[in-house]
Amino acid sequence: MILKVARLGHPIVRTAAREVTIDEIRSHDFQLLIDSMVETMHEYSGVGLAATQIHLPIQVAVLEVERNPRYPDAPSVPLTVLINPVVTILDNQLVDGYEGCLSIPDLRGLVPRFRRLRVQALGRNAEPLDIIAEDFHARVIQHETDHLKGEVYLDRMRDMRTLAHLAEFQRYVLEGAAAARK
Ligand code: NI
Repeated sequence: MILKVARLGHPIVRTAAREVTIDEIRSHDFQLLIDSMVETMHEYSGVGLAATQIHLPIQVAVLEVERNPRYPDAPSVPLTVLINPVVTILDNQLVDGYEGCLSIPDLRGLVPRFRRLRVQALGRNAEPLDIIAEDFHARVIQHETDHLKGEVYLDRMRDMRTLAHLAEFQRYVLEGAAAARK
């Protein structure tokens, strides 16, 4: 089922999510919820979706990067379900990259993120996950785990003047960068 995505301004987007119990994870309804989150992420060509974005204050996020039209240059990341994620930063170096968000439609902004991290979480069947991620993968994990704390990428931006509408971003930033490489 495709779920309605909450936009910035809806209080749920600013709500810190609670942990999920093992019993909840094993319930049929929870499994259907995960399927719907994946379906919703695919429908809107997102690379990630947090439960707070679909009006549920629980620590669940899904992410996947595969030939994504919204992020054409991004390396692929397999479909991952993160429940109760705990992030440990492994490299304090901050790297700037553009981000968008399904809760902040039609905008892109330059966001500094830690380059490398470890995330420990439960998977969709309550199995323990322990993932080392870097670069764009680490960026997506930081973006989604921020959502579970009620934070959005705008909060992390160092220069609000980099904020751009999608069409202008594609024209002046992406195409400008491609032209500069020639
Ligand atoms: Ni987002």
